[in-house]
Amino acid sequence: MSGHLSIALVAGARPNFMKIAPLYHALAARKEADRAKGIDLRVSVVHTGQHYDENMSDVFFRDLGIPAPDRHLEVGSGSHAEQTAKIMVAFEKVVLEDRPDFVVVVGDVNSTIACALTAKKLGVRVAHVEAGLRSFDMGMPEEINRKLTDAISDLLFVTEESGVRNLLAEGVAKEKIFLVGNVMIDTLLGNLKRIESGEFVPTGTVGDFCAAAKRYAVLTLHRPSNVDAKESLVPLWGAISEIARRIPIFFPVHPRTRGKIAEFGLGGTGVTMVDPVGYLDMLYAVKGSAMVLTDSGGLQEETTVLGVPCVTIRENTERPVTVTMGTNYLAGTSPDAILAAAGEILSGKAKKGRVPPLWDGKAADRIAEILLRHGTS
Ligand code: UD1
Repeated sequence: MSGHLSIALVAGARPNFMKIAPLYHALAARKEADRAKGIDLRVSVVHTGQHYDENMSDVFFRDLGIPAPDRHLEVGSGSHAEQTAKIMVAFEKVVLEDRPDFVVVVGDVNSTIACALTAKKLGVRVAHVEAGLRSFDMGMPEEINRKLTDAISDLLFVTEESGVRNLLAEGVAKEKIFLVGNVMIDTLLGNLKRIESGEFVPTGTVGDFCAAAKRYAVLTLHRPSNVDAKESLVPLWGAISEIARRIPIFFPVHPRTRGKIAEFGLGGTGVTMVDPVGYLDMLYAVKGSAMVLTDSGGLQEETTVLGVPCVTIRENTERPVTVTMGTNYLAGTSPDAILAAAGEILSGKAKKGRVPPLWDGKAADRIAEILLRHGTS
């Protein structure tokens, strides 16, 4: 076996960075061994620039030891069509110049589908990490991105059993599907040690809040369906304010939500609103919390591994194992249902979860192995 193998890892938005970090490290760690086998492995990082604020992007590169991107497309914000199109045009130039053997995309954001589609049309093989998840809600932009990316990917790396079933039901050949575990959990387990050992010291914003509050909840909210319209956000805010009477809430606010909260004149006591925080700060806050309230995908999985009860403020989840096996309550968006789930947790009756199979910190190693096998065969 000999030759070159060039792999481009694509990331664009906040939830992508913790997924490419373990892939980068796993591939980098193999370089020497592969060189001895006659394989010249090249790994590059492409940042589309979908997220660009320091606390939505750069802090994750620092926290997770990802090198500065080899290519930065600097596309920024825009409508879905505008953003996706800008990424495609810029990424096409990169693929034509660099000619990678594999483009690896992660998750379900606009950068994921934009780069997968661009690469595939240029005849470059595409690997999708976190394939097969389905909310069965085509009103979610992420669901559209997931289905389209999976339909054109050559290798599909899946986090949970439901993903395998979904892909097979959509007619994907089983030879392309690999149940490998969860790269985001690789990152979590790797970094938990830094927190537990005291090596990581939280910033003042997080450290001061956690020390003062002792028992607290963490909130995140950014889905367009929850925050963009007044009719959605105002009742949710009513439920959150009610919960805040029982427990202090720490709320790192996504930029899109920040604007809507101001526009609708929301606020009140018991909720500490701060700017988005970095990866390690967030992990520190969530690990120490009594409960998480969220509409994020990733936090449903992270809380399951940490054993922290999670109330998911959505009507559906593409991560059902976190409900059937983990600590997640899929509450929906009605204030009564959110209050009921939070009430059960706060009265000490939260369900005890288990960690799903293969969420063991080794998913990126499994993926690297499979990529190498396919890339060099
Ligand atoms: C995107 C993803 C979503 C993911 C979320 C995590 C898509 C379709 N959505 O949603 O799946 O859960 O990221 O955060 O890809 N903005 C800033 N600074 C930034 C980035 C964004 O101020 O660094 C503001 C801009 O006003 C922008 C808005 O946030 O228009 C939305 O950003 P965008 O990347 O379009 O979508 P997200 O809501 O972040």
